[in-house]
Amino acid sequence: MNKVNIAGIGQTPVSESWDKSLKELAGDAGLIAMDDAGIGYPDALFVGNMMAITANRQAQLATLIADWLGFHHKPAISIETACSSGSAAFRMALMAIASGELESALVIGAEKMTDSPGDEITSSLATAADAELEADFGLSFVGLNALLMRRYMYEYGWEHADFSNFSINAHANAVHNPYARFQEPITKESFIKSAMISDPINLMDASPVSDGAAAIVLSAHPISNGRKSVSVIASSAMTDTLSLQNRKVGTRLAAAETSTKAAYAQAGLSPSDIGLFEYHDAFSIMAALSLEAAGFCEPGQGPTLAIDGKIKFDSDIPVATMGGLKARGHPVGATGIYQLVEATLQLRGLAGATQVLRPKYAMTQNIGGSGSNIITHILQAE
Ligand code: COA
Repeated sequence: MNKVNIAGIGQTPVSESWDKSLKELAGDAGLIAMDDAGIGYPDALFVGNMMAITANRQAQLATLIADWLGFHHKPAISIETACSSGSAAFRMALMAIASGELESALVIGAEKMTDSPGDEITSSLATAADAELEADFGLSFVGLNALLMRRYMYEYGWEHADFSNFSINAHANAVHNPYARFQEPITKESFIKSAMISDPINLMDASPVSDGAAAIVLSAHPISNGRKSVSVIASSAMTDTLSLQNRKVGTRLAAAETSTKAAYAQAGLSPSDIGLFEYHDAFSIMAALSLEAAGFCEPGQGPTLAIDGKIKFDSDIPVATMGGLKARGHPVGATGIYQLVEATLQLRGLAGATQVLRPKYAMTQNIGGSGSNIITHILQAE
């Protein structure tokens, strides 16, 4: 595979964006990334999005954004793999450049969720589950993760409060991220006391419904513009059963295990080489399972890493260094690109107050469905 470089990055604040449409959010992020790269119009546009059709009544999103950005007569494709849509779009662009088909590409992840009333967005999110076996019976996405968390707590003997440090860490890091949805710290007490959503998942276990867009320009050529160059050295995608009920072992993310293993093999690295891990903490149970699947601890031991403080930005395995999905926010189809933008900022040494000390390698992992479509990337600072 030819080497592919991150030439430019851009992001909009994650928030409730009443004054911007989906197209405008995507365009803003795209223009910032193109400006950062300084190479003019890339050869093609790839857009990661999950819910434009259901929540925004808009198909042809990539065509619309290409038109809005002035990408005339260039290819533009939308890609959907639920919450991992952003990383899926990034991977498609990466493969097109690595194969020699394209020299450069703009990848945008964009989602606008807060225009829809709560029950409608909950139904839209449930389309990421198996309609026939799960959603048609009224199971929401939070409900599915609650089943997973309850089973995990039963099997490994954890209490709900044992998961608090995942969210406390995410919020502590988001305090310093001007693009984060929640820039306030939380405490163990506020975690325990927060409103129950779907037992045992409460408000502080869950990522918020949000609007946002992030973008990356990929190039076949290294472009530093006076900063540290960052390149992509591994990309791996794996699937598992869409429904939870068909999993052999319900409390492990088998697709994340194989996706991460394949990424480590491509990069010639092991977990101890990874300087930071932007994981998919859509729910605190997913944070625990992701750490286990990526080989940072044994199955059932994820909460131990958080309780022992090992996941802080200045400790062994920094995660959610700019707030993660929990506190930066989770505009679902955009999240994978936010993770890659944040990893790039860290590798460039421009991550501000939560800068990890001289990281060489950063890993991002984006999860679509309840562990059913997992996309892992490893980036390297040159
Ligand atoms: N963490 C912390 N605070 C949150 C929050 C979260 N996840 N979600 C909402 N809030 C806050 C809001 O800021 C608001 O605070 P305010 O009253 O001070 O303004 C308050 O809680 C109520 O917000 P609202 O938007 O009305 O919340 P809601 O009850 O409609 O939705 C959830 C809360 C958790 C149900 C919703 O965000 C959700 O469904 N999250 C999961 C999304 C999901 O499944 N994503 C895909 C995962 S792969």
